[in-house]
Amino acid sequence: MNEYLPGLEGVPATRSNISVIDGEKGILAYRGYPIEQLAEHSTFEETALLLLDGQLPLADELADFDAQLRRNRRVKYNIREMMKHMPATGHPMEMLQTAVACLGMFYPCNERISGTDLADDLDYIHSMTVKIIARMPVIVAAWEHIRNGYDPFAPRCDLSFAENFLFMFTGQEPDPMLARILDTCLILHAEHTINASTFAALVTGSTLASPYGVVAAAIGTLSGPLHGGANQKVVEMLEQIGRPENVQTWLDKKLEAKAKVWGFGHREYKVKDPRATILQGLVEKLAASRGVSPLFETALALEEAASERLGAKGVYANVDFYSGILYAEMGIPPDQFTALFAVARSAGWLAHWREQLADNRIFRPTQVYTGEPVRDYTPVHLRGRV
Ligand code: COA
Repeated sequence: MNEYLPGLEGVPATRSNISVIDGEKGILAYRGYPIEQLAEHSTFEETALLLLDGQLPLADELADFDAQLRRNRRVKYNIREMMKHMPATGHPMEMLQTAVACLGMFYPCNERISGTDLADDLDYIHSMTVKIIARMPVIVAAWEHIRNGYDPFAPRCDLSFAENFLFMFTGQEPDPMLARILDTCLILHAEHTINASTFAALVTGSTLASPYGVVAAAIGTLSGPLHGGANQKVVEMLEQIGRPENVQTWLDKKLEAKAKVWGFGHREYKVKDPRATILQGLVEKLAASRGVSPLFETALALEEAASERLGAKGVYANVDFYSGILYAEMGIPPDQFTALFAVARSAGWLAHWREQLADNRIFRPTQVYTGEPVRDYTPVHLRGRV
């Protein structure tokens, strides 16, 4: 096949049985289970295990996985020391990418990874997966304190994944309602077929790089504003708009300038992203119990106006449109939103890493060459420009 399709739109990059999207009907399912049912009934821990193993765990399997995640929350102090030397103004995604890549130096696995029977060593794959999923939230929460000049709070084993993150981030006992909302956000962000960062993870995994390298590559890819970085942009955009009555003028100007409405549009969905619908419901729930945030009123007005203008192109609200409003209510600053996205997506990335290893062939696509034909080298004293 020599046809070049920009952005590889519609080109299958792998075979996968982890998740599926129906972009016309607005359906997303992990291992066959609709996202709405997982958001309602599951926990992040259970959803992560479902993504990794392919089936809903039995009670003892889930308890065991949960205990492993809790046990693996501790991070060596040298990693915290390294983080203390990073510039406080650095973006959390750059910190996270560096720290995760660095975990590979503190918990090396290079010898194991080059083994030819790697794909069959499920104990090894599982143990690496647990270590990474358990430590990423600890690193993100620790950074919030380190960058402000304080020692981080130590992780607690008596709290769930979401509760521990909130505790470590805020230093306060986690509010049960916010913890459940965060847990649901983590479920919604855990996996999404072959998006850009998951593709980066597959490519890196296909070289048999270490899982730390795989996740670090995926974090770098997620950081861009066309991908995970959009959630930060959404809140900044809503703050800039200020009030619902400013929406129409703001939107006219942006669309005239051919600028993007952040949190809108998706390569796969031609209708509203089902995750945006669930997140909107969570914001409404929070608003009903604690009052409506001005950001939410502006978001509702913008969604209505932008859907009217962009709907004909199949451009509607995506997962990033409402998530930031929830994170802001939890006291999480906008530049940490994408890092929290990465914490959740680590489960999906590692599920794809495992799937890739089971049927691995190194990625090596081709190109459509548009450069000069092969030509002779000219010594520097004979060169000139015409
Ligand atoms: N705001 C305004 N117009 C948008 C838009 C947005 N957020 N997203 C897409 N469009 C328009 C494009 O301008 C284009 O219009 P045209 O055909 O008149 O030129 C059309 O819709 C198709 O968009 P395109 O950029 O080709 O789609 P894509 O599949 O390549 O890109 C995204 C998908 C997600 C990168 C894109 O929608 C986007 O940049 N969204 C904003 C960033 C964002 O929220 N990312 C998070 C994704 S979960």
